[in-house]
Amino acid sequence: MTRLIYVLNGPNLNLLGKRQPEIYGHETLADVERDCRALAGELGLGVRFHQSNREYEIIDWVHAAREDAAGIVINPAAFTHTSVAILDALNAFDGPVIEVHISNVHKREAFRHHSFVSGRADGVIAGFGTQGYLLALRRLAHLVGAAA
Ligand code: DQA
Repeated sequence: MTRLIYVLNGPNLNLLGKRQPEIYGHETLADVERDCRALAGELGLGVRFHQSNREYEIIDWVHAAREDAAGIVINPAAFTHTSVAILDALNAFDGPVIEVHISNVHKREAFRHHSFVSGRADGVIAGFGTQGYLLALRRLAHLVGAAA
């Protein structure tokens, strides 16, 4: 049975590739989705890939993940540093959760050093660029016992 992974992206990540490329690089979110799908296929995983600028949509996707997902990769973007609601939603999800940040948030402004989501995440990846998503998928494949 193919294990399904939700890859969830928070606000402003729709502008990836155009927004502050010196920090976030030149790859677009569509590039990230393509690479995630290709790797997931190799790993025997399925992927639901979403992005929203609205906190409630991310919460609703975490709730949906309770029904059919084996694990979650989440880059909550700025909601990382503000959202108790996303933390609460993730606490209602039973499978593994990997938090991803494209940039090394610890090298940046102090307000980026705290993450509400890290209080739930089973692993945190920061500063590996968009490759962080692929590392997160590899880790989840291991944690959920994917076929490949
Ligand atoms: C980010 C880091 C956050 O601090 C920031 O608000 C983002 C992106 C990252 O991927 O490096 O929007 O999550």
